Amino acid sequence: MRLFIGIPLAAGVADELAKLAARLRRKDDGLRWSAAESWHITLQFLGSVDEQRYGCVVERLREVRFTAVSVALEGVGTFDRAGVFFAGVRVTPQLIALQQRVTVAMEGCGFVPEERPYHPHITLARSKGKEGVRGLRALKMRVQREPKFGTFVAGEFALYESVPEPGGSRYVVLERFELRP
Ligand code: 2AM
Repeated sequence: MRLFIGIPLAAGVADELAKLAARLRRKDDGLRWSAAESWHITLQFLGSVDEQRYGCVVERLREVRFTAVSVALEGVGTFDRAGVFFAGVRVTPQLIALQQRVTVAMEGCGFVPEERPYHPHITLARSKGKEGVRGLRALKMRVQREPKFGTFVAGEFALYESVPEPGGSRYVVLERFELRP
């Protein structure tokens, strides 16, 4: 199983993002737009996990105690090399602390933390093949001014499975973990 840990988006914020995506999207734009139900903020990507480690992952994540986290979306951007168009998420001490708490919990199951800085985001579209590079560039031109989004309070995080499918990966929530004092 290919797993990752993330924060699901609140419905209100997802609606705002869906409106933006609908405004920016074009037919045959060389991009694969992700479905609103799949939108999330990754806390940690785990990759391939066998059944034995799955048990450890769930057990350790159940032990994470953390308060609800205020999440603010912040503009849009691209990871050009990866061909990703995303909505940015403000890096706050609280969000970083949750991400670190999760990472430390996962170290207990043998997952090595990533060295690169945490860049929380919501992937809205990915470039498809050669046309995608052009598509991503054209998309950037269509974003004339920085969109403003609301904030939400994340009351949970989740363990997701990424299921590969011909049209792109589908994300399934396997477990939910409440954030509370
Ligand atoms: P992305 O959307 O920026 O590609 C499922 O694939 C989730 O895990 C996505 O949020 C994806 O981020 C993230 N992800 C996939 N592979 C990753 C990796 N090697 N390192 C960090 N995050 C990864």
